[in-house]
Amino acid sequence: MKTSESLNREGGLTRRGFIAAGGALAASAVHGDESVPQGSTASAPREQDPFLGTQGVPLEVGSPCLQAPGETTMGVSWAVSGLAKGVVEYADNPEMSGATTVRSGGYGLVPIDVSALQVRLTGLKPATKYWYRTITTPFTGYANIYDAKLGEPVVSEVHSFTTLGAAAKAHFCMISDTHAKYKPFQMVVRKVKELSPSVCIWNGDATNTTQRKKTAVEIFLNPPVEDRDWSADIPVCFESGNHDFRGSWISKKEEVVLPRDPSERRGDQWDLKWNFAVRLGEMALIGLDTGEDKPDAHPKWFGLANFEPYRRAQAKWLEEQFARPEIAAAKHKIVFCHIPLFADPASADYPHDGVKVDPHDYAYWSRECSELWGPMLKKAGVKLVVCGHKHKFRFDPPAPDRCWAQVVGGGPELGVSSGKPDASRFPTVVEGLVEGGKLRLVVHDVFNNCIVSDKYL
Ligand SMILES: [Fe+2]
Ligand SMILES: [Fe+2]
Repeated sequence: MKTSESLNREGGLTRRGFIAAGGALAASAVHGDESVPQGSTASAPREQDPFLGTQGVPLEVGSPCLQAPGETTMGVSWAVSGLAKGVVEYADNPEMSGATTVRSGGYGLVPIDVSALQVRLTGLKPATKYWYRTITTPFTGYANIYDAKLGEPVVSEVHSFTTLGAAAKAHFCMISDTHAKYKPFQMVVRKVKELSPSVCIWNGDATNTTQRKKTAVEIFLNPPVEDRDWSADIPVCFESGNHDFRGSWISKKEEVVLPRDPSERRGDQWDLKWNFAVRLGEMALIGLDTGEDKPDAHPKWFGLANFEPYRRAQAKWLEEQFARPEIAAAKHKIVFCHIPLFADPASADYPHDGVKVDPHDYAYWSRECSELWGPMLKKAGVKLVVCGHKHKFRFDPPAPDRCWAQVVGGGPELGVSSGKPDASRFPTVVEGLVEGGKLRLVVHDVFNNCIVSDKYL
């Protein structure tokens, strides 16, 4: 195994997001759009197949993004601009002394890719700080395995993370509904970096409609914002929103957003890829997926929606999670899902429950999820449900028949709604922490840079 000291080092460039292995950047060429291969003439350009290698175009490497954190596992994904392999080195010290090197994938062939690399670290200690870096090596050419050539490795800066667990600091942030709008996204991730939580729950509608992997790589791994390295030191638990099921490419999103570690779920729960139930200090954080916002039979889905069985499968999964001793023992049980689980019967939201097939209607809250999961939330004594979807902050206090409060975060609108000024529309970061044994909920308005709600539950 090569040591990192023997490799080419490119440091101090994380704010650029992409680290180039020298030379000018040529993003369009490496994405296979407009490059002219050697031997071709300018009058006869042809599309370069990126899987044939970088062909002399400098490799660009994004900041690492921590994904799907667990007590003993951590995912790392990062963007690349051309065909490359990648490893993660991690150690228990910032000097990276005695570092362990982990390759992509599992057994057998190590995956390589032209736009995103993913490595899963396993066998870590709970609630423990580690330091890590990525090492990315381009294939400058890859005609076949006997005719392939590596370029110079690119080494990232050293970053750090702390694994989850009952001894970890109980502190989360929740973001949602950024919809690839990068002005509000920058405001949101700047606040997350400032608050520096143990984990950030990305609670859906990160996307709009995703037709190409390149779009997902930009949104999740290499956003065009100043703080594009926001998740290099803060692990992210992702849960889909309804928009994160839309587009001709989006069914492949695990190529960009790592699912939970396979050891967390059984074979019959294999499709519950992003559901999580983890301890974080005195908290238990539970992630559920409310799916699309209209019934499966809705004609808009072209027969592609299969969310009703998905919600039922999650009900069974949820019951099992609440039975886990470490989850049952958590003083503060908090559920995250994209579409709200509650609307006041007196509110204008209430009729829009996502059940009826109506071409003009969609779920403002999910009656189906509420009926499937609600009794279990009550039985388990869940204290808080954290949602998005409505693009407007609101807090629903607990009620005699509902032990949990519900907080709904804001969307990407910056003081405007339907083209008109609307002070109620602002992006939020929802923060949860434990102070003096109590769960404190703070909601940050990142547009007006103020706190709109601060209470103990
Ligand atoms: Fe949304
Ligand atoms: Fe939504």
